[in-house]
Amino acid sequence: MTQHHFLFLSPSGSTRVAAWAAAEELGRLGAQCRITDLSPVLRREAPLPNPLPGECLWVGSPVYCDHALPQVMNCIAELSPSDGRSAVPFVTWGGICSGTALLEMGAALERQGYAIMGAAKIMAEHASLWCYPNPLGRGRPNQSDLEQMRLLARAVRQRLVDREAGKLAGRITSTTLDYQTERNKNKAAAASLEAAKRRASPLLADGARCSGCGLCVDICPVGARRMASPPSPDETCILCKACARCCPQEAITVDTSGFLERLRTMAAECGEEQETRVFL
Ligand SMILES: Cc1cc2nc3c(=O)[nH]c(=O)nc-3n(C[C@H](O)[C@H](O)[C@H](O)COP(=O)(O)O)c2cc1C
Ligand code: SF4
Ligand code: SF4
Repeated sequence: MTQHHFLFLSPSGSTRVAAWAAAEELGRLGAQCRITDLSPVLRREAPLPNPLPGECLWVGSPVYCDHALPQVMNCIAELSPSDGRSAVPFVTWGGICSGTALLEMGAALERQGYAIMGAAKIMAEHASLWCYPNPLGRGRPNQSDLEQMRLLARAVRQRLVDREAGKLAGRITSTTLDYQTERNKNKAAAASLEAAKRRASPLLADGARCSGCGLCVDICPVGARRMASPPSPDETCILCKACARCCPQEAITVDTSGFLERLRTMAAECGEEQETRVFL
């Protein structure tokens, strides 16, 4: 029976929750799963495990600025080329626009020789709005979102069983993931995390407040913070703001004034249904 390997980056935890919902469902059906959270790999605490022959690779990323995280895309690009292995890309998004993240992940996996067995975009709370009581995507992913991940897991497993039995098995191609309107595709083409970083103020700590506890360094999901006095991010920072959220001294400040209103306006302009969707 095919094994499944879940590989994801999840700075705020929603992508991890989605991955676990599918992995637990596969486990319930008797399939073996292994989980690779990319954070320890990026913090150089663990090596990136090699894909095993015949394994089905599930790759998860949050949508940041209309795209998958660069660290996840790099990881796909570094996979050794596969001959007919299967993959399932999935993203979580915060209710503005899921952009072209899923399409880009699917196309990158195909370039590496993977057959796409299915995909999903899962609604989640917008990670940048943690300080608002009513953020976009509040309470998501909820049970019905996670049920969609379980449904995807069951369908993918059945496709792999059919393929092993020599039956004609269903699959999709990355063109199935080309679901955005022209307007949203053009917006995604113009957006990037790098551009957002040029606009944002760097997440520097106020030296007068910082106690040097190192929590922000330990929590950074991509290993971008170095212990210094006070700690500061390097160019690999993804603006997840986990450091600002965790700092017990509130030494790392983020200006979120008017942010919710701006993001709500962007969401309305994009017009993407606030939905979770499975592609099969
Ligand atoms: C810097 C940044 C950029 C984001 N960009 C988008 C976006 O373009 N569209 C969107 O719908 N959500 C966006 N989000 C929200 C995330 O996609 C959402 O919160 C996601 O579920 C986070 O996944 P995680 O909990 O696994 O980290 C962004 C969040 C951050 C922090
Ligand atoms: S978490 Fe805050 S107090 Fe601790 S090292 Fe980082 S900036 Fe300083
Ligand atoms: S430095 Fe802060 S904002 Fe940047 S990636 Fe690390 S935790 Fe996230």
